[in-house]
Amino acid sequence: MKVVGFNGSARKDGNTAILIKYVFEELNKEGIDTELVQFAGKKVAGCTACRKCFELKDKQCAVKDDIINECIGKMLGAEGIILGSPIYFADITPPIKSLIDRAGYVAKANDDMFRRKVGAAVIAVRRAGAIHGFDSLNHFFFISQMIVPGSHYWNIGIGRDKGEVEKDEEGKQIMKTLGQNMSWLLRKLYQ
Ligand SMILES: Cc1cc2nc3c(=O)[nH]c(=O)nc-3n(C[C@H](O)[C@H](O)[C@H](O)COP(=O)(O)O)c2cc1C
Repeated sequence: MKVVGFNGSARKDGNTAILIKYVFEELNKEGIDTELVQFAGKKVAGCTACRKCFELKDKQCAVKDDIINECIGKMLGAEGIILGSPIYFADITPPIKSLIDRAGYVAKANDDMFRRKVGAAVIAVRRAGAIHGFDSLNHFFFISQMIVPGSHYWNIGIGRDKGEVEKDEEGKQIMKTLGQNMSWLLRKLYQ
């Protein structure tokens, strides 16, 4: 079993990546493989609304010159998907929104191809906008007919500078509980 995580931050190995890794640690303890894809420094275009995915139904986006099709392939190959984003101006970042729009539209064009995979959202924030971003990520899972486990609080970690989220003990525990619930759910669904 595998979970793939996407980090929408412009900053590689920052707070969002750290939070996702706390979820991954719990999954790894249960023998579930994990892979982190970080968008920092990579070109990611937005959806062009060409609707070619609905014509071709080939499980691919017609925009081929960035990493989104590779990401879609990784999502198809995993039982679980984590979408992670820092909060920028009270919402998620452009690359993670692009993944949602393009992978989400391709999935719709192909009979909800992520249906019943397990999905979880992870947010890094300095102060405000976390719930708005958390909701934005969860919209993808719910419209894709995915199954979403929770934690003992919403999946948010607090910090500004790179690594500062390590000081948020509650945030780290939320990610650990999320990882435990995600692995429990994956085993119920896929084993
Ligand atoms: C352009 C930009 C906009 C931001 N907007 C917000 C915001 O609206 N609310 C907030 O609490 N933090 C905001 N932040 C701070 C980040 O959410 C915070 O530093 C986060 O921990 C970054 O995660 P990362 O290390 O994974 O990039 C912003 C940061 C940047 C670069």
